Amino acid sequence: MMKKVTKAIFPVAGLGTRFLPATKSIPKEIMTLVDRPLIQYAIDEARAAGIKEFIFVTARGKSALEDYFDIAPELENTLRKKGKTELLQNLKSTNMDSGQIAYIRQNKALGLGHAVWCARRLLGNEPFAVILPDDVIAAEKPCLQQMIEAHAETGGNMVAAMEVPPEMASSYGVLDVREDMGSVVSVKGMVEKPAVNEAPSNLAVIGRYILTPDIMRNLNRAKSGAGGEIQLTDAIAEEIATSDNVYGFRFRGQRYDCGSKAGFLHATVAFGLAREDLRGEFSQFLDQMTATKNAAQ
Ligand code: UTP
Repeated sequence: MMKKVTKAIFPVAGLGTRFLPATKSIPKEIMTLVDRPLIQYAIDEARAAGIKEFIFVTARGKSALEDYFDIAPELENTLRKKGKTELLQNLKSTNMDSGQIAYIRQNKALGLGHAVWCARRLLGNEPFAVILPDDVIAAEKPCLQQMIEAHAETGGNMVAAMEVPPEMASSYGVLDVREDMGSVVSVKGMVEKPAVNEAPSNLAVIGRYILTPDIMRNLNRAKSGAGGEIQLTDAIAEEIATSDNVYGFRFRGQRYDCGSKAGFLHATVAFGLAREDLRGEFSQFLDQMTATKNAAQ
């Protein structure tokens, strides 16, 4: 029987240079969409998908992340005394039990593949998920849950994929599709950031993965790939070549690239508008902005 996916790795050791100077002192993952840090969206998605163990690959300067998942007794007491029950519930819903979270340090930012490899000793002989918190996905059914359900049918390795226009493909890892079965595609190759017009398909890989222990074995042997970093894509490509058990999954939902400034702004607007308590005032403001912009043209 196939083993259940109960562990997820959250690689959060990147330098976040696209958000300097903010990321000089705060981790990118603590930056907020409306009132929740990016990492909270990732944790909620993982929990909804049945993940029980949360493994963070962190780095120097990321201690705010560790503190965020600790309990906050003073805050909780104050809110309780003041009878602010809703806020208290909101706060407590972010608490994690002792032993549910593990932190591992990646002491040099040698790439995503290397970050995943740093967690190797915390994984058993079972498939595990990888979630990149800067890819935030708004979906009726959380993306990782959709993937775990599909993975129960296919087994092997699975990467989340979305259709992108051809001119965008060179910013992503792109799938070379063997067979298209609808939501699931089987994959015969994967190219990291292909040159314009050389992308094998319009299916781009984004930051959700279900991987087998074989990927760790490949990372163990990894040589530096594109950009001098150890790429996760290379370890997956090697798996395609040797064992032919890699699938792409077209998830249902809207993905926001919160690792980029424009994507973060898009997400802020979308999540702001999705909030009942903000929608009225915020959409009025956006309408005004649009009217002012149109009048100026
Ligand atoms: P990015 O490519 O977005 O890099 O990493 P970054 O450092 O976070 O941001 P920029 O490009 O400098 O602005 C994708 C994911 O992989 C993690 C990051 O934390 C992010 O979640 N990562 C990347 C690591 O954990 N370690 C690395 O060495 C590289």
